[in-house]
Amino acid sequence: MSIVSKAAAIGGGVIGAGWVARLLLNGIDVSIYDPDPEASRKVSEVMKGARRAYKQMVPGGLPKEGKLTFAKTIAEAVHDVDFIQESVPERLDLKHRVLAEIDLHAPANAIVGSSTSGIKPTDMQVAMKKHPERLVVGHPFNPVYLLPLVEIVGGEQTFPEAIEVAKEIYASIGMKPVVIRKEIEAFVGDRLLEAAWREALWLIKDGICTVEELDDIMRYSFGLRWAQMGMFQVYRVAGGEAGMRHFMAQFGPCLKWPWTKLMDVPEFNDELVDLIATQSDDQSDKWSIRELEKIRDDNLVAIMEALSKQNKGKGWGAGELHNDYTKQLAKLAAKKPKASKSAEKAKATKAVKAKAEKPKKKKKG
Ligand SMILES: NC(=O)c1ccc[n+]([C@@H]2O[C@H](COP(=O)([O-])OP(=O)(O)OC[C@H]3O[C@@H](n4cnc5c(N)ncnc54)[C@H](O)[C@@H]3O)[C@@H](O)[C@H]2O)c1
Repeated sequence: MSIVSKAAAIGGGVIGAGWVARLLLNGIDVSIYDPDPEASRKVSEVMKGARRAYKQMVPGGLPKEGKLTFAKTIAEAVHDVDFIQESVPERLDLKHRVLAEIDLHAPANAIVGSSTSGIKPTDMQVAMKKHPERLVVGHPFNPVYLLPLVEIVGGEQTFPEAIEVAKEIYASIGMKPVVIRKEIEAFVGDRLLEAAWREALWLIKDGICTVEELDDIMRYSFGLRWAQMGMFQVYRVAGGEAGMRHFMAQFGPCLKWPWTKLMDVPEFNDELVDLIATQSDDQSDKWSIRELEKIRDDNLVAIMEALSKQNKGKGWGAGELHNDYTKQLAKLAAKKPKASKSAEKAKATKAVKAKAEKPKKKKKG
């Protein structure tokens, strides 16, 4: 169960709204600050999608949702919370301004997580003059309400205790926290994604394949493998009975062959953007973004459910966590709301009365 009683979300775009959804669906009250006049509508769209996905995951009924309030300032949003997740656009100057304000107004012991995709926490916490030691990066993956992984990164000023508490907080809302051992830009997930993304841009630019063909090559093959075993376990199996050492010996030298453009970046000009965007329209404009989100969410729930039945029902990888999380949500849903003080008193009086009226057992002998 969550150890957070009230949280704040600063920024309610794609990622911020995803955090709001995960927190509310775990029964946690959230106050949000986002200056976009459309923020409330956008968050409610994401909430609709998240509720729909969670109903599939926990068919017996969801926990009572937390209460969402829109604050007029960052100060108002953070003054009475124990956890804050910052998800404003990826610009260091903006992160500095926002984190400085959060730091000024949040309770001293509140943990601050940043959703940044790649900025080092050391570079962000310089703006926090009061308690920089409570900042961690909590880098999620979209959609935040479904994908469980969160990369936790501490900066030079972050206290180890803050990392421990952040781990507990994220785990308590059904996530899998992985603490990154050394602070680097873009952490681990985005390092991998950027390498693949750069190579993909080259492949389209050079006319080797289309956007659709590239996606097919991924989703009909190694994409399926990655979802259940990741990279190294898959390659261990690919090495045959001799395992990883054989795999390394066989494929290691290929990395020196002229196969890869991973070190170069294609020029990001209008021509490239048009090429990719037009091909992406050809592939997908028969669906709206909201329809694609539904398809994505249904598929993700189905994949996690399939994985949850593996390993003799214990679940495998994300499926194992999915089992625990759905059980946790069902338990939270079954929990009776706290009775009011007078109802509680009446119950206690009744119990005392019943005890007094109960005939005493005769002593043996
Ligand atoms: N989109 C992704 O896939 C993804 C994944 C992981 C992490 N991230 C990271 O999450 C963060 C947010 O990205 P996003 O994709 O949600 O961006 P987004 O543009 O969808 O949302 C950003 C939101 O922040 C709001 N905002 C702007 N200035 C603000 C301020 N001063 N105070 C409060 N809110 C403000 C905007 O109105 C907008 O709603 C970035 O750091 C990004 O790197 C993004």
